[in-house]
Amino acid sequence: MTKDWSPRTKSVHSGTRRSQYGEMSEAIFLTQGFVYDSPEQAEARFIESGPEEFIYARYGNPTVRMFEDRIAAIEGTEDAFATASGMAAVSGALTSMLKAGDHVVSAKALFGSCLYILEDVLTRYGVEVTFVDGTDLAAWKAAVRDDTKAVFLESVSNPTLEVIDVKGVAEIAHAKGALVVVDNVFATPAFSKAAELGADVIVYSATKHIDGQGRCLGGVICGTKEFIRKTAEPYLKHTGGALSPFNAWVMLKGLETLHLRCNAQAESALFIAEALEGHNKLDRTLYPYLNSHPQQSVAKEQMGAGGTVISLDIQGGKDAAFRFLNALGIILISNNLGDSKSIVTHPATTTHQRLSDEKRAELGITDGLVRISIGLEDKSDLLADIRTALDAV
Ligand SMILES: Cc1ncc(COP(=O)(O)O)c(C=O)c1O
Repeated sequence: MTKDWSPRTKSVHSGTRRSQYGEMSEAIFLTQGFVYDSPEQAEARFIESGPEEFIYARYGNPTVRMFEDRIAAIEGTEDAFATASGMAAVSGALTSMLKAGDHVVSAKALFGSCLYILEDVLTRYGVEVTFVDGTDLAAWKAAVRDDTKAVFLESVSNPTLEVIDVKGVAEIAHAKGALVVVDNVFATPAFSKAAELGADVIVYSATKHIDGQGRCLGGVICGTKEFIRKTAEPYLKHTGGALSPFNAWVMLKGLETLHLRCNAQAESALFIAEALEGHNKLDRTLYPYLNSHPQQSVAKEQMGAGGTVISLDIQGGKDAAFRFLNALGIILISNNLGDSKSIVTHPATTTHQRLSDEKRAELGITDGLVRISIGLEDKSDLLADIRTALDAV
């Protein structure tokens, strides 16, 4: 029956486990360990734990399991494993499946920490990584080989909002037997169709829209039962990237309002992007649902909305961008996204500072580029705030 529920209903009810007290709100099982009736029971549980049996919070916990079951239900995957952060999910998904000698193809437009995993960490352990222009299916086709083990991409890239055709990439990867790993943060679980489009492993930073109110770090890997329990879980439970039960509870509460928040934020983002397009202080207004966006049709096909983030390329480089940031009154300078509070980021000097000037230029991260995560404030107030700050440039 739960399978027939819409994602919005699932985000409120799926995965709930009630204790003997019949509590309405999900309980926080703030415990690292679990007590056994006998050594025989402990031995049996270490050999194989049933769905209601736990051993140690690094391996699993009832509150964490509620979060995993709920997000898997929303995402439409068989299972999920929750992690301490989004980066624990990205690195856990990739390192658990790869070994020295394997080949990976990745989109080159990535969040700085994702790029670090692909470019520095995996290669240090003998994995060969080929980077491609993620929006170019011919480039994926040329790069994926018979021995390619996995492909990796951000379905909407951070911060230039390139939209990658997940279905097209999945067809190319699957023809060679490679797994498709999608960092779906910007698409959000509210607008995701990644599993339907062919993604095998879907990764979220729950720190973003799932919490959505700037409180906790968290992450999650969604996939088949086979991948989650046989590949990801053994690696994660022994290397220590588990999500805390308290944070899992915050994420569960966040999921209850996920669709409401994301829909409201995306509606405001589209309104603001459309109003700003063509502004005389801007070189580019980037938002996946704008008519001018080069992958607008892909975005419309694979996301139920354009997302909650817009990027603006302000004429005049870093000085102009900083003047804009300093003149904002409502929108806060920070580097998270997906929050109910609107946030502005200057990627070139923060999230993507580590990259060389050439690399940033190649990825379109100019000195004038600012990323704005649209929150839950009134959209007209936000537009007025941005317009006033542009006047100060
Ligand atoms: C696309 C993307 N992936 C992964 C992450 C990492 O998430 P976390 O900060 O929860 O580790 C972020 C943001 O930080 C992100 O924007």
